[in-house]
Amino acid sequence: MLVELFHLLVTPVPLRLRRLGYLRESVLLLSRGRRCHAAWAPHLAASRAAILDACEGLDQTRIAVVLGSGLLQDVPIADLARRFREVHLVDAVHLWPARRLVRTYSNVRLITADLNAEPGRVDPLPALCGGAEVDFVVSANLLSQLPILPLDRPGLLPPDLGGRIVRAHLEGLGRLRARVCLLTDIEQFEEDRTGRITDRIDLLHGVRLDPPDRDWIWEIAPFGEAARHHRLRHRVQAFLNWRTA
Ligand SMILES: C[S@@+](CC[C@H](N)C(=O)[O-])C[C@H]1O[C@@H](n2cnc3c(N)ncnc32)[C@H](O)[C@@H]1O
Repeated sequence: MLVELFHLLVTPVPLRLRRLGYLRESVLLLSRGRRCHAAWAPHLAASRAAILDACEGLDQTRIAVVLGSGLLQDVPIADLARRFREVHLVDAVHLWPARRLVRTYSNVRLITADLNAEPGRVDPLPALCGGAEVDFVVSANLLSQLPILPLDRPGLLPPDLGGRIVRAHLEGLGRLRARVCLLTDIEQFEEDRTGRITDRIDLLHGVRLDPPDRDWIWEIAPFGEAARHHRLRHRVQAFLNWRTA
C-alpha cells in the first residue's frame, strides 16, 4: 500500500495521462506482478524470447522501438541495448524501477506518449517509429490494454470503440517500414479448481488475428489472487514479423 502511494506521488506523468488513470493502472500492474511473480515468469520469459528471435537477421540494427515498454518485465532490455545502436522505450507511464534500470544504459531512452490511435486522433506511430533509422518495433503486450481506459470514460461512447482502437493500432503497425514484432493477449478465461471454464472475455473486441508464430498461456491471476477458487488465464500470441503474419 505504501509502495503504491509512493509511486502515485513521485512518478512524473503528464497531468492528462494521470487524470485518465494510466498511472493508477501501472501501479496496480506493478503490485500484481510482484505478487504473481512465479505465475508470470513463463509468460515473461516467452515474451522476451519471442522479441529476441524476432530481431534476428535484420540487415541493420540502428534503432529499436518498444511500444508499451511499461515495467520492462517482458522486454529483454540488456540484449536489445547490446544489439541496437539505440533503444526507445515508449509508454504512457514509466515507474521508477524502469527509470532506474534505464539509467544503466547510455543508448536507451524513455519516451512518454499516449499510444491510443482511436478514431479522431492522429496515429502516434509514424512520429515514434516511422523514422528511416528505425529497424525494429515491438508492440509489447500493449494491444489489449489500449481500449481499457477509453472504454471506462463517462458519457456516450462510439459503438465498437474497443474494436476500433485495436484495429487502429494494428493498421498503424502494418504501415511501418521496420520489422514489427507483435505480442498480445487475445482472450481471458476464468477457470475453477476442477478445470472448468466459467467465463471468457475477448480482449481484442471482435478483431481476429491470423494464426500466430507462437502462443502460450499467461497465468495472470492464479487461485487466490482475484478469487479463492477461480484463476484468470490469458491466451497470448506472438507474431515475429507482423506484416507477413
Ligand atoms: C501489460 S503492460 C505491458 C507490459 C510491459 N511490456 C512490461 O514489460 O512491463 C501494458 C502497458 O501498456 C501501457 N499502455 C496502456 N495504454 C496505453 C496508451 N494509451 N499509451 C501508452 N501506453 C499505454 C501501460 O502503461 C502498460 O505499461
